Amino acid sequence: EWNMPDYISEAVEKIRAQVGNDHVILGLSGGVDSSVAAALIHRAIGDQLTCVFVDHGLLRLDEGKMVMDMFGKNLGVKVIHVDATAQFMGKLAGVTDPEAKRKIIGAEFVEVFQTEAGKLKDAKWLAQGTIYPDVIESAGKGKKGHTIKSHHNVGGLPETLNLKLLEPLRELFKDEVRKLGVALGLPHEMVYRHPFPGPGLGVRILGEVKKEYADLLRRADAIFIEELRNTPIPLATELAAGEGHGAFHKNWYDATSQAFAVFLPVKSVGVMGDGRTYEYVVALRAVQTLDFMTAHWAHLPHELLGKVSNRIINEVRGINRVVYDISGKPPATIEWE
Ligand code: XMP
Repeated sequence: EWNMPDYISEAVEKIRAQVGNDHVILGLSGGVDSSVAAALIHRAIGDQLTCVFVDHGLLRLDEGKMVMDMFGKNLGVKVIHVDATAQFMGKLAGVTDPEAKRKIIGAEFVEVFQTEAGKLKDAKWLAQGTIYPDVIESAGKGKKGHTIKSHHNVGGLPETLNLKLLEPLRELFKDEVRKLGVALGLPHEMVYRHPFPGPGLGVRILGEVKKEYADLLRRADAIFIEELRNTPIPLATELAAGEGHGAFHKNWYDATSQAFAVFLPVKSVGVMGDGRTYEYVVALRAVQTLDFMTAHWAHLPHELLGKVSNRIINEVRGINRVVYDISGKPPATIEWE
């Protein structure tokens, strides 16, 4: 049990001693771990840190702007924003197999990051937001006979870039990383966000990924998340619903561990005004879990689901049907791909 200001000053001293006057590169994803690592390293070495934020075109609505505002504008961190949407969409065209999609996104990510990193000639260090559970997990790899899904992270980079690794969160658990983030001035809302997979909307658009689908999905997803955040959860329900993040639940976003929309590239018939529509389907997924290995579907109030459905169908032209996923894990996984 450590005291946060002391922990921060110790960590800052350690980073300074480790890197000296060298320059450091960090791949910022917008997720909790890389964000907290960036904030901590920036606290320690300021402008010696350059972050590279690769937008693969499969991020949530306004995510790029949010990351650039928070780090660039608010915290004064040097961030290079790479919009690689066209490149990723090109590589993904015609690919429908989930694992093939993951591999392409992972490989492309490494490629884009390396190109950017290669331009920063002074850099000697690669910083990563590796946390303690990641250390344990990769130590266990290889012992398991198989991986159910290939999880994408920026592995293999230091070897090819010839950089030394800086991993200031290696000893921390997730809840400690979150507390550290808040103590470093990151917004609570950002630090307590649901996890988001590396391949992003790429695993939430079934089959072939197209920019048109990603644009529809982003808007539907944002409506779902907004309504979850805006719907308070009564205390009795809160107790019955079990754990979200283990924190005090105030709304359905906090009471769920992960919630998102999924794009189904099938068309169904609907009516709107006097006309017949023939448009795509969006599925809503919300789960409660402690470890993401098993999960229950969240018993969201019907009124909330109804409101989200109406809003998506009215506001997102191209979607005329919304369904709710009531599958547990196992047998279903949390993501649809
Ligand atoms: P599943 O779908 O396997 O997901 O039940 C369990 C947790 O892992 C996340 N997930 C991923 N995260 N890259 C990631 O970084 C991936 O390829 C990936 N696949 C699943 C998922 O969002 C959930 O939190």
